[in-house]
Amino acid sequence: MTIPKIELHLHIEGAAPPAFIRGLAQEKGVNLTGVFNEDGSYKFEDFSQFLRVYEAACTVLTGPEEFGRLTTAVLEQSIEQGVIYTEAFLSPDFCGGGDVGAWREYMHAMQEAAAKLPEIEMRGIVTCIRHFGPDKAKAAARCAAETAGDFITGFGMGGDEMQGKQGDFAYSFHMAREAGLRLTTHAGEWGGADSVRQAVRDLEVERIGHGVQAIDDDALVDHLAEHEIVLEVCPGSNVALGVYSDWHSHPIETLRERGVLVTVSTDDPPFFHTNLGMEYDLLGHHFGWEDDTVREVNVTAAKAAFCDDATREKLL
Ligand code: ADE
Ligand code: ZN
Repeated sequence: MTIPKIELHLHIEGAAPPAFIRGLAQEKGVNLTGVFNEDGSYKFEDFSQFLRVYEAACTVLTGPEEFGRLTTAVLEQSIEQGVIYTEAFLSPDFCGGGDVGAWREYMHAMQEAAAKLPEIEMRGIVTCIRHFGPDKAKAAARCAAETAGDFITGFGMGGDEMQGKQGDFAYSFHMAREAGLRLTTHAGEWGGADSVRQAVRDLEVERIGHGVQAIDDDALVDHLAEHEIVLEVCPGSNVALGVYSDWHSHPIETLRERGVLVTVSTDDPPFFHTNLGMEYDLLGHHFGWEDDTVREVNVTAAKAAFCDDATREKLL
């Protein structure tokens, strides 16, 4: 039996199948030179190139209709992997540039597309992009606060963790919290254990995107475990981007053994040649995860999901 899966960390643009992006580029006459390898996969060699290629691919996503079509394509991939609930990072920066009225239209297009697929529940986490700076983040937080509700349930931050500090974005996270949104931020993917400490202290998030570099600070590992701060771990992403040189060196199992609440996600699956089924297969292969561990991790994800209790009950 395949275990129903819950995914908490998926960037909607980063989940775009390359053929989908190429199709839109052709429709719109956009030149995407440098974005793809000859075999059609996304082309990058390190994280900064990844971010550049990601943003270039986004240039064909020109309006709400494109984001609606993207949502359908992404959720269909997730359904194939046995995912019954997913939280997607949605960025106003790519959806109207931070204008609340425009964002509302993009959001409705994604919500409507998701509602047509009864096999899966989706929630949106509005996401600011760290390397775009605190002012853009405030605009994203405003979009989030204005649309907080059944579909938009969280606020987060992605992008280049080496730019600025987590605390530079405290104003935006505070605004989102006041609007009733749940909070997560990318930390400890590139910025080390200290970045995770900053996220917990300065942004008061309840979940951390990645968070794996916390492993380098024993007291922090204990703190995460004690305070039940949930990690959205994306092992395939970390290995593909070179955060860890191979699966064997990845700390997910050590973190779990030390009592940290870990969940498993794909981040940007086509970029990293992965999907959620492959992630669990590799966790089985490298760390001996069997069905009971997979079930345990998905219960953790259900409990940590940014959804209402009635939805959570259905996931548990
Ligand atoms: N945006 C999309 N994928 C990301 C990642 N792995 N880290 C930071 N920002 C991202
Ligand atoms: Zn991410």
